[in-house]
Amino acid sequence: MSENQKVSVVTGSSSGIGYETALTLARNGFETYATMRNTEKGVSLSSIAEKEDLSIKIVQLDVTDQNSVKNAVEKIHDESGKIDILINNAGYGLVGALEDIPMEEIKSQFETNFYGLIRVTQAVLPIMRRQGSGKIVNISSGAGRFGFPTGSIYVSTKFAVEGLSESLAYEVEPFGIKIILVEPGVIKTNFFNASNTTKKSLNPDSPYFKVFQNMESGFSKMLENGSTPDLVAKTVLEAISTDAPKLRYLAGNDVKQLLDGKKNMSDEDFFNMMKQNMS
Ligand SMILES: NC(=O)c1ccc[n+]([C@@H]2O[C@H](COP(=O)([O-])OP(=O)(O)OC[C@H]3O[C@@H](n4cnc5c(N)ncnc54)[C@H](OP(=O)(O)O)[C@@H]3O)[C@@H](O)[C@H]2O)c1
Repeated sequence: MSENQKVSVVTGSSSGIGYETALTLARNGFETYATMRNTEKGVSLSSIAEKEDLSIKIVQLDVTDQNSVKNAVEKIHDESGKIDILINNAGYGLVGALEDIPMEEIKSQFETNFYGLIRVTQAVLPIMRRQGSGKIVNISSGAGRFGFPTGSIYVSTKFAVEGLSESLAYEVEPFGIKIILVEPGVIKTNFFNASNTTKKSLNPDSPYFKVFQNMESGFSKMLENGSTPDLVAKTVLEAISTDAPKLRYLAGNDVKQLLDGKKNMSDEDFFNMMKQNMS
């Protein structure tokens, strides 16, 4: 590794946005640590790395496991001597009407999407602070800016990521560390298959079954027109390639249109527009 080569760490690199981001960063000269909870899923990334002579290393990291996070960050730092870029990407969806979701599923969702992101960030921050530089990209979502039915808990985790990022940006700016939010729209990944749909909302006897069905078919349509994960990877690359990144980057025409609309509407008008689109 040359002295000037930047070191990047990506969480949840086994598929989708994390996979594409790890590849894109490596192809653009970053020494890339593609972390994942199950390293057996790293075979495809490793074989591309070998073929293209890319600097990608697979490291075990489960964001819900404090020891796994500590070991991974220590190993990366011991090996490379620095961490310039952290991409907090690992996450999954939870679908269901709030009334139907057991508390355990709610806690698990926060454990990964929010506390997981905090765990990795807390492990990396002392390294970046001592370096006097670093960029942390938090993969949020359009769902970090507006809600929708059956998404209350997932949306809450992303709103939490947004609030954390806005606040943390002030704290770490004096140490040369930038916080960046990337907010994708609907992206064609394994995300929708991997999402946990709470059992009760699948039951036709649930009072929320109809709204659940409407949302399922709405998302299927949006997915047809969704973007591919390389768009998010390119957005991440653009954000980290400037010395003065913005706080927020949108990825996808759907999310750009919705947020453009939201800017010019009252909360009530936005609610009614969303309701109309979803029925
Ligand atoms: N797809 C979309 O439309 C969309 C839109 C906006 C935002 N996002 C966000 O983008 C991020 C990536 O999602 P994706 O679309 O790329 O979905 P994906 O293909 O399902 O990828 C999710 C990744 O997160 C990993 N992960 C889950 N729990 C983990 C844990 N405890 N520790 C470490 N890794 C874990 C998964 O690993 P395993 O393979 O081991 O399960 C997988 O690598 C998520 O934060 C998601 O909320 C997605």
